[in-house]
Amino acid sequence: MDDATLKSLKDALGASPDNTALKMIVLRAFMDRGQPGEAVALLDGLGPDDLPNDDDRNAAARALIAAGGAETALDFASVETPESLMLRARALLDLGREPEGREAYARAVSMNAAVEDLSLKARLFAREAEPAGGGGDRPKLRVISNDNTDEEEVHRLTAPEAEPVTFADVGGLAAVKDQIRKKIILPFEKPALFEKFRKRIGGGILLYGPPGCGKTLLARATAGECGAQFFNVAIADVLDMYIGESEGKLHAIFEAARSHTPAVLFFDEIEALGGKRQHHREATSAKLVSQFLAEMDGFAKNNSGVLVLGATNVPWAVDPAFRRPGRFDRVQFIPPPDRPARAEILGILLRGRPLAASIDADWIAGHTSGFSGADLENIVETAADLAIEASLEAGDEVPIDDAILKRALKEVKPTTLEWLTTARNYARYANEGGQYDDVLDFLAKHGK
Ligand SMILES: Nc1ncnc2c1ncn2[C@@H]1O[C@H](COP(=O)(O)OP(=O)(O)O)[C@@H](O)[C@H]1O
Ligand SMILES: [Mg+2]
Repeated sequence: MDDATLKSLKDALGASPDNTALKMIVLRAFMDRGQPGEAVALLDGLGPDDLPNDDDRNAAARALIAAGGAETALDFASVETPESLMLRARALLDLGREPEGREAYARAVSMNAAVEDLSLKARLFAREAEPAGGGGDRPKLRVISNDNTDEEEVHRLTAPEAEPVTFADVGGLAAVKDQIRKKIILPFEKPALFEKFRKRIGGGILLYGPPGCGKTLLARATAGECGAQFFNVAIADVLDMYIGESEGKLHAIFEAARSHTPAVLFFDEIEALGGKRQHHREATSAKLVSQFLAEMDGFAKNNSGVLVLGATNVPWAVDPAFRRPGRFDRVQFIPPPDRPARAEILGILLRGRPLAASIDADWIAGHTSGFSGADLENIVETAADLAIEASLEAGDEVPIDDAILKRALKEVKPTTLEWLTTARNYARYANEGGQYDDVLDFLAKHGK
């Protein structure tokens, strides 16, 4: 709702202050704008009995919870519907009454699995200590190594991110985002619903594509979208020069993710671990690979709130054992950005920097075929350097303008072409199970 419409509704409400239906429309508008304080002010003098329908009572409860009025929210969320019970659970959590909250949560989910909310669940159950030996009905995993990995290091490897990234920070890739929402985030957030329909869940997703096109960014954004903690593990960091140490580290990382659900556990450059033998610089210990596969298989049976993602620039170098059911059994191609995507990425990268009144991002987008997102970032960084230089020379702030961007463009070369050439060969001659069909589609659409 735009400002003008909201203002005229508020004026209308001023003229007929007893119009409850109108009041609730304005309340919802304030909630949409993230202004719960303004929303609850409208409830002044209203009780649950003044709101005859459940939806309105729930909307009121939601506003009260957002504004810190959990106690009053309980009065509004008092019916036995799944939505209302979920709101009760939220309010009870805020009031420190977790046992009752857990009960309300369980009732809501048993009535309608679609209302499941993993982050609320994690918070409601957070204080329940795990039974000694960890993990109730979770299959026990054998740690193959002596486990002397120090806490400090696991924390460094898995430290959650300070600022969550979301899909809004990722330019282009609309179709991929849509797939991720449907096939990854939804089953992850609503496992009970999928189980009811006997849909298999669990298993990891492997993102592949040319370097610098947003695999890591997208994994991070996927975590942000489901409100999950993001554990970014670079395989190179896990590999340890001491034989046996790496397995312990790997186990500790999986455990850390399990104890911080909901979580996204992201393995970057997975080929370093599961590389086919002929691609190996040195043999990674076979034990490390089997430890990794055992951890993944354990997750496939009970992945309780942990989503496993992997990424690689060289999918053809990944051991096929990694792609069996329950492991990285789904793959997702992350293509180089097309022209509109490049314009969008430029917009994101230029955000918050001093800019000339008009910037022709579309012109740059049109002249950067074959550039990855990282290449575009390179252009923008170079442009920023040039603008700083110019500012120092002029003794005054010189914003980034078209001329500066064009100069920067000359200094950066596209990097995705080489990858696409290699990928085309694998797609043509080693396309087992159609695993590179998306690459072929992309080349057919954009290739020469
Ligand atoms: N689709 C995109 N939207 C916005 N920025 C992008 C995009 N793709 C790449 N970038 C920029 O390039 C950088 C490198 O991307 P990254 O996700 O690390 O690539 P990859 O993991 O595929 O090698 C990102 O930090 C970001 O600044
Ligand atoms: Mg990456």
